[in-house]
Amino acid sequence: MATARADKARHCLTIAQDRQAKCTLAQITDDKMPAMTVNGRPVQFDMDPETPLLHALRDASNLTGTKYGCGVGDCGACMVLVDGEALRSCLVTIAEAEGRFVTTIEGLSPDRSHPVQQALVAEQAIQCGFCTPGIAIAAAALIRRNPDPSEQDIREAVPNLCRCGVYPRLVEAIQRAGRVTRRRETISAAPVPGIDPADAAQSVPAMRGPEGMGGDDPSSATETSEP
Ligand code: FES
Ligand code: FES
Repeated sequence: MATARADKARHCLTIAQDRQAKCTLAQITDDKMPAMTVNGRPVQFDMDPETPLLHALRDASNLTGTKYGCGVGDCGACMVLVDGEALRSCLVTIAEAEGRFVTTIEGLSPDRSHPVQQALVAEQAIQCGFCTPGIAIAAAALIRRNPDPSEQDIREAVPNLCRCGVYPRLVEAIQRAGRVTRRRETISAAPVPGIDPADAAQSVPAMRGPEGMGGDDPSSATETSEP
């Protein structure tokens, strides 16, 4: 209970700093601006608290690497890390993500050097790429807790659907990412010709700085001061 009150008080302080106003615990109850940390940055969404996290990330923060597939929890295309756990962001409301640390595919590595990203490219486990961000997130969560996964471990931890059928290569890619994580091998993946990681980051305004966090509508998502 004390922890909950402390969390609310911290949230209150964040809101107060942002609005230059005093905030009471009673006001917090009615507040409609869930706050969380997205890719290392404090963000506050001025949206309905029941908005799926997927839509807040894509529409308010322009983090479109997280994909909308089925919208009902079946495909895994929308997976993001929430406090290190791979969750389907179409099933998580921004109210439920309040105070959590969210990592999208854009935040997994600023230069696409995460072992999972390197291994997916090296093993050519990507075809159209629509499912790839969700798979990379699920695989990153798995490798973090188990850097030497069996094929069965991978099938259980990465249940994502892929219309192109990259499944056989996926197992080898994720096991290879595990070996890279365990420092058993390295991958020297050359950048794709014509696509520099810096160029890719430029096309994601939300990764550039505070002024870009709200996309076209700066009122819908704003950075907050650290509590
Ligand atoms: S869009 Fe979330 S599981 Fe398919
Ligand atoms: S690579 Fe096309 S859906 Fe998976």
